[in-house]
Amino acid sequence: MGSRASFPLVPISSDRVFIVTGANTGIGYEIAKWCAMMGATVILACRSEDRARKAMETMQEEFKTEKSKGTKGLTENLNLAIEFMKLDLASFQSVVEFCEEFKKSGRLLHVLFCNAGLGSGPHIKQSGDGLEMMMQVNYLSHFIIIAKFQSIMRQSGPDCRIILMSSKAHKFVKFDVTIMNYTGTAEKFSGLDYYGRSKLYQIMQTLAMSRRLKDTNITINCMHPGVVETECFRKLDSCILNCHIEFSRRCGTLRTPLEGATTGIDLATNPKRTGVSGHYWIDCEIVMSTTTSRYEGKQETLWKATFPFIEQYLTETDIADLERE
Ligand SMILES: NC(=O)c1ccc[n+]([C@@H]2O[C@H](COP(=O)([O-])OP(=O)(O)OC[C@H]3O[C@@H](n4cnc5c(N)ncnc54)[C@H](OP(=O)(O)O)[C@@H]3O)[C@@H](O)[C@H]2O)c1
Repeated sequence: MGSRASFPLVPISSDRVFIVTGANTGIGYEIAKWCAMMGATVILACRSEDRARKAMETMQEEFKTEKSKGTKGLTENLNLAIEFMKLDLASFQSVVEFCEEFKKSGRLLHVLFCNAGLGSGPHIKQSGDGLEMMMQVNYLSHFIIIAKFQSIMRQSGPDCRIILMSSKAHKFVKFDVTIMNYTGTAEKFSGLDYYGRSKLYQIMQTLAMSRRLKDTNITINCMHPGVVETECFRKLDSCILNCHIEFSRRCGTLRTPLEGATTGIDLATNPKRTGVSGHYWIDCEIVMSTTTSRYEGKQETLWKATFPFIEQYLTETDIADLERE
């Protein structure tokens, strides 16, 4: 039994530009495909061009199959408006180049879906920038992208949306910004703990940003997709998590990527979500995240603690845009 939630198929103009990070597989693939099938122009921001182009071919085929089934509400266009852009979230340089390339194109941006994410097993992985990998890929790099696209989104007209893919894993971790970047011994590192931390930061960022975006044309929300059978788990070597997944599989609660994507597609496209901001969603419903994540003082502590890691990649204008209320 997967998710019982569903999303309406609504017509979307191809003038509306969506970016989905990590859209070549898993949940992001389904989000990108269904948003494009409703008519949006969707940019797949991925680290591997090869994997992204293969995914785009499959999307076009699946679109044709869906049309041949007579599914109502799909775009009238013959092909999906999907594009690839290179983005490696494990490299701040790549993140900056991605943002600059998009800015140079002069395009508007209506939906930014920060989906890409990484889990890890018990072994610490460090990025080329010298930071714990999950904090950088899941949280910091997306933070930079959100900062750099603020001005474009503010000028992109009504109903612009930012969505962050978080996780229920945020519930099982402590908030302590002094150890944001893991500096302990390799033996003591817990991949699950640091995964959960990165997902907690994403919720706290959503809530902190929503205050700053109040009364603007941009909303920001975050979500948990459920336990979804994707490549995310195939790459893990965590015994506890693998048991949890096997248990979910046997109980029939493991979700397909489309079931996991449903809330995200709904948040990105459903007209009912216009103007709704600053919430954590599961199964297309607003749910309370943990007390810690909702504590404004801690969100602002995290906000301040985040800058030393990324400020060298932000311009003064980026920072001013972020802080603009
Ligand atoms: N699956 C679940 O049960 C579950 C539960 C809660 C939350 N989530 C979250 O859902 C999101 C999507 O995960 P998924 O389950 O669909 O996993 P997935 O199948 O492994 O997809 C993850 C995507 O992120 C991309 N990615 C990883 N590292 C990247 C990097 N350095 N730069 C750019 N892209 C990168 C991957 O690209 P490559 O193909 O190149 O690796 C892939 O496209 C993640 O944020 C995950 O934390 C998943």
